[in-house]
Amino acid sequence: MSHDSAPQPLTATAGLALQGSLRPPGDKSISHRAMILGLLSIGETRVEGLLEGDDVLRTAAAAEALGATVERLGEGRWRIVGVGLGGLVDPADILDFGNAGTGSRLMMGVVGGQPVTATFDGDASLRKRPMRRILDPLVRMGTEVVSEREGGRVPLTLRGPREAIPITYETPVASAQIKSAVLLAGLNAPGITTVIEAAATRDHTERMLRLFGAHVEVTAHGPEGHGRTIALTGQPTLRGTDVVVPADPSSAAFPLVAALIVPGSEVVIEGVMMNPLRTGLITTLLEMGADIERLRERDEGGETVADLRVRASRLHGVDVPPERAPAMIDEYPILAVAAAFAEGTTRMNGLHELRVKESDRLAAVADGLKANGIAHIVEGDDLVVHGDGTAPKGGGTVATHLDHRIAMAFLVLGLATREPVTVDDGAMIATSFPSFLPTMQALGGRIAP
Ligand code: S3P
Repeated sequence: MSHDSAPQPLTATAGLALQGSLRPPGDKSISHRAMILGLLSIGETRVEGLLEGDDVLRTAAAAEALGATVERLGEGRWRIVGVGLGGLVDPADILDFGNAGTGSRLMMGVVGGQPVTATFDGDASLRKRPMRRILDPLVRMGTEVVSEREGGRVPLTLRGPREAIPITYETPVASAQIKSAVLLAGLNAPGITTVIEAAATRDHTERMLRLFGAHVEVTAHGPEGHGRTIALTGQPTLRGTDVVVPADPSSAAFPLVAALIVPGSEVVIEGVMMNPLRTGLITTLLEMGADIERLRERDEGGETVADLRVRASRLHGVDVPPERAPAMIDEYPILAVAAAFAEGTTRMNGLHELRVKESDRLAAVADGLKANGIAHIVEGDDLVVHGDGTAPKGGGTVATHLDHRIAMAFLVLGLATREPVTVDDGAMIATSFPSFLPTMQALGGRIAP
């Protein structure tokens, strides 16, 4: 979505129980990476189940501008013919990433490691987001930052070197986007590029690099959730391949919580990716007493997927440890909504990274809770929500600040509050879940302009 699209207010109203089944759209993280590795490989990549949200379409357009042939074959079915490492061309125009943090940051890694020059820009939300965290390691790898807006913001222009310098980089924050940018730049480095992360973050880049033929060694520093060292051998030959995109757990989160809080609901959510680095919300909801069954676990495109049967549940408050944040980083807004219906106190700890998402999500969630009469407090980087196990009042209008997940979370809230909830702009929902409205309506949810 571009910054000039007109705001689209939406209102959610409580109604009957939600019933039925749905398949959420393809995973956004995997969809971006499929486009990017398609660009960097030789030959044809065919993608099934691609998320056709605005964010990913921006990455597809950028891949095309950098030399790939990108073709839509049918719903979610795409063909990319790549240029191979070293075959990228200077884009004729600015790469406009719209609202997409992941697309822009990963593509900065690509451009930063290759002998091309490109300018990155985006909407009002992306223009506020910190890019220093990406530029710092890239500069060490030989990238020239030709120009940048003050404080390392887009619009910015990067020029990559003929060959990148292999480095060992300890990420200062647990971020899959930083890790991925460094690894993507390291593809054109003669030697081993190593990323050390203090807490494990989503590993889709590592998995997909292997699928396309790169050599990536991953050493875990301890059990699940502990840090990892990821070592990529540079200058591999990447070959186009088939990618099957599982359903996005971060999108599944919205109908899932809706089914838990709307009395009498029973919903089946199909084909949801169960990568343990993405399932922190499900772990937390189970601890809160949610009735979620994992059915038909199977392999799809190298990931375990399952159908989730979700029934309306009486929830109780829990403490969510900060170590769990990387596995549910995008799910705190919707968890805060679930917490509003739980009996007791839910404490979400260590949410500092929420302040630099599509919006300052900690502030946006707190304001939205306040507008709807939900008791809560922000203590430093922690969010504490108090519930009494009954439906909150609602009735508020929520400012979404160009943030799709704020919009969806508060629309879900309005499906079960005593009074309707309005969000000031639902346009950004198209960045990650274009079919959100008809999907929720098909389950019986009353959401309308
Ligand atoms: C993503 C990583 C996360 C997440 C984002 C997608 C990715 O960001 O919030 O929606 O695909 O790598 P950070 O790496 O900044 O935590």
